[in-house]
Amino acid sequence: MPSTRKILATQALPYANGVPHLGHLVGMVQTDIWVRLQKMQGHDCLFVCGSDSHGTPIMIQAEKMGITPQALIEQIQREQERDFTDFHIEFDCYHTTHSAENKELVATLFQRHVERGNIDKRTIKQLFDPVKNMFLPDRYIKGECPNCGAKDQYGDNCELCGATYLPTDLKNPYSTLSGAKPIEKESEHYFFKLQNYEKFLKEWTRRGHLQEQVANKLDEWFKDGLKEWDISRDAPYFGFLIPGEKEKYFYVWLDAPVGYIASFKKLCEQRKELNFDDYWGPDSSAELIHFIGKDIIYFHALFWPAILHGANLRTPNEIVVNGFLTIDGQKMSKSRGTFIKARTYLNHLPAEYLRYYFAAKLSDRIEDLDIHFDDFTNRINADLVGKFVNIASRCASFINKHFAGKLAAQCAEPALYQTFAQAGEEISEKWEKMCFSQAIRHIMALADRANQYIDEKKPWTMIKDPQQQAEVQAVCSMGINLFRVLMIYLKPVLPQTAKQVESFLNIPPLQWQDKDKPLLDHTIKEFQPLINRIDPKHIEALKMAMNEETQVATPPNKETKKECISIDDFAKVDLRVAKIVEAEAVEGADKLLRLMVDVGEEEKRQIFAGIKSAYQPEELVGRHVVVVANLEPRKMRFGVSEGMVLAAGNGGQEIWVISPDPGAEAGAKVK
Ligand code: 2FM
Ligand code: ZN
Repeated sequence: MPSTRKILATQALPYANGVPHLGHLVGMVQTDIWVRLQKMQGHDCLFVCGSDSHGTPIMIQAEKMGITPQALIEQIQREQERDFTDFHIEFDCYHTTHSAENKELVATLFQRHVERGNIDKRTIKQLFDPVKNMFLPDRYIKGECPNCGAKDQYGDNCELCGATYLPTDLKNPYSTLSGAKPIEKESEHYFFKLQNYEKFLKEWTRRGHLQEQVANKLDEWFKDGLKEWDISRDAPYFGFLIPGEKEKYFYVWLDAPVGYIASFKKLCEQRKELNFDDYWGPDSSAELIHFIGKDIIYFHALFWPAILHGANLRTPNEIVVNGFLTIDGQKMSKSRGTFIKARTYLNHLPAEYLRYYFAAKLSDRIEDLDIHFDDFTNRINADLVGKFVNIASRCASFINKHFAGKLAAQCAEPALYQTFAQAGEEISEKWEKMCFSQAIRHIMALADRANQYIDEKKPWTMIKDPQQQAEVQAVCSMGINLFRVLMIYLKPVLPQTAKQVESFLNIPPLQWQDKDKPLLDHTIKEFQPLINRIDPKHIEALKMAMNEETQVATPPNKETKKECISIDDFAKVDLRVAKIVEAEAVEGADKLLRLMVDVGEEEKRQIFAGIKSAYQPEELVGRHVVVVANLEPRKMRFGVSEGMVLAAGNGGQEIWVISPDPGAEAGAKVK
């Protein structure tokens, strides 16, 4: 038996300015599977995470919602915990970076770096929004590309010509928060001298803590030379004040990773047997492993080890980087209709299907992972239902019906059982090394082998022969035992199914080493269906919900630049009075009504409008409204929408369709 490992695993802390989406789930599921494997193997593995609760976007979002940042982060943290729990993500502690533990830790780490001469303080010039009275992070500044003149480009690079530049180089810059022209203003900032750790980092990054692709990426950054890092932000800001300052805060990216430590500290409060220094002290022998997305490598593989090392804390053993999620080959985006909230998925499909699908596609490389819905359906139906669960359902009925639930006293095919049990070594290694898709392939090959065994033995034929009853019991018991071994291997991915299987098999929670001994002379319970086939209707309903959300969502952080359009632009919009002649709910859509409107000249149009929460269909029939009649027809899941009905309001019951005065006739142009 290998000795017990002591491990602390973390997953990148999601920001507290939006609810979880499926993109967050890739890393969460990867970490959770890995941690569950360790726990099943008897290791001392802890999983901490939490909400990344500071920064300008959170402050702006709260302002837009008319609530305090504090209220916003509390609300989002609750939703994150609820959604992740429903995806069976099992944290030992889910905390927040806006906590007393984090505040104290950040101050301590900062002070240690001050003492070591790693912090510089000097005045710099930055762009400032004179209307909002605040310095502008680059993401809130747009303007014309200094190279090609393209409009509405962000302050770091041009989407059109690819040029990179500074926000101060933009022509005609404007603040996306107020539309105002930013001015340059001076302010004093604190800098962390990352370059002091160049030698340490060059060694550290080549000592096997990183995937090769990551180490190569870091080499590019080393070539450019490490630069000092601005770790302060001016008020107004939502974060921790820098000790001794009244209007300067720590930058969110300094306190975010410290949040890993804070979350662990919180856990120490809850579990008195844990010792903080065993995990974070300079001589810690515990393994520390951070799971992150590919967009935050710089912070975790350069700043973080330097911050830890310089503050006399241990550095990570491993940083595991995963790629982004795409949907049907497209980037996840609200405007493309490819954005899926975690909750929307859960309203239509079981969490474990997604966990399995991710596991079947994840590798140790930094590759994007695509959800292709046909492939998703095939995988679940073919692998989980057709191969895995099929083994149990084929055998259990014979054991339940003919042998009072009793499994045979002997293993019918010890050699076959051994093959399954020994495969556990290789499968464990694949899970351990993040080669998840290979682990799944191996498990499914074993499932094929188990089904083949049952096919060869044909218990359904043997049962008819009174001489062969014992053989049926032996074969079906063997089938159930092979299924049980596969359940052990899949338990990190399918924890809920594992619970049902443990109940069906009438056994305590399965551990990894249970694979070595078959269940013999043991009474099982009645078999209950475990995993259902995906009905394409559910996929359609999920797609419809995604579509609906993108149709009616008012983007919360829509940029508010006040741009004017010319009278010619306005003249292009064909606004017309229309009469609603039919209105009905759309099956499966929570927010949409299907309207048939008369737009004059005997022309009728079908329009899908997101106004169901405010109107009963019957009260709309006969009403005159204003429509955009020359909007490009839009193909939706449930049909084509051929225009747009104008309405005002915030959503819910507060939606009011815009109607002309009585007497206006369908087809009249709005001018
Ligand atoms: O990129 C992000 O979503 C960050 N909220 C991740 C923070 S990870 C850690 F540093 F806290
Ligand atoms: Zn350009």
